Amino acid sequence: QRHLISAADLTRDDAVLILDTAEEMARVADRPIKKLPTLRGRTVVNLFFEDSTRTRISFEAAEKRLSADVINFTAKGSSVSKGESLKDTAQTLEAMGVDAVVIRHGASGAPYRLATSGWIDAAVINAGDGTHQHPTQALLDAFTMRRRLIGRDAGLGEDLSGKRITLVGDVLHSRVARSNVDLLHTLGAHVTLVAPPTLVPVGVESWPCEVSYDLDAVLPKSDAVMMLRVQRERMNAAFFPTEREYSRRYGLDGDRMARMPEHAIVMHPGPMVRGMEITAEVADSPRCTVVEQVANGVSIRMAVLYLLLGGNEPAVSHARANAS
Ligand code: CP
Repeated sequence: QRHLISAADLTRDDAVLILDTAEEMARVADRPIKKLPTLRGRTVVNLFFEDSTRTRISFEAAEKRLSADVINFTAKGSSVSKGESLKDTAQTLEAMGVDAVVIRHGASGAPYRLATSGWIDAAVINAGDGTHQHPTQALLDAFTMRRRLIGRDAGLGEDLSGKRITLVGDVLHSRVARSNVDLLHTLGAHVTLVAPPTLVPVGVESWPCEVSYDLDAVLPKSDAVMMLRVQRERMNAAFFPTEREYSRRYGLDGDRMARMPEHAIVMHPGPMVRGMEITAEVADSPRCTVVEQVANGVSIRMAVLYLLLGGNEPAVSHARANAS
């Protein structure tokens, strides 16, 4: 059984294949009938133990566009709130005969446990686990960068070699940052993290990136600047600068955006905290790709599902089933 647990598990060729397949999937969205028969008769469960707007809706849209049967499970309102374990939940799903499980969980490592436990015989796709990984987010971010910085058709077969990507904010709690650092490094990009000293993880020296505390110095050398959400729900208030102090040093406003090269883009995985991480002027500017990232997420998730579950009918001419 093949799974997608971590962006670090993807080779350069795996990642480029997913990006190229997602370009083919995006063409389906341009058709009058936005559906492929690829996963007809296959069942996918969306197993969400943590809140989500973008990831949950986008996986569901991707599954339906591939004609899969979709079961949505949220911990709230399920027997998890009565104390049922992940093992018992997995075995309940196994009894129903599912082919893939898309899982979001607050505990880092829960998708890996599900994939390796033998509790369920299904492909496992990590939709975000604790502060660990969010691989489809990193893939949709790389897809957005490749389209904007290289071009939709020119980008086919290409990686992000030589591109300079800056990630700003709460790196400590961010699975999006960890996944992006891993994938962007694999794709040849040069990554710089900018964060308050209290929000830089211990051991960051071993990550394949640089760390800076001076956003204004890094902005003119960036092709893309990704603002990260400040995750107050995972944070001890004692370690957090005041909102005013945070936005003064690490927030992106119009004046700061003007320091970026003309071609450079602003990204955010969402949900955004407007005013603190990013001003409305920047979030709503044409240089900001937030809405594009959401749309691209459907194409990426279609590509991952297609490559992992290997439909009976070829959806795209060159697709091979070796995503992970
Ligand atoms: N980017 C992201 O994971 O958003 P959601 O939490 O809304 O899924």
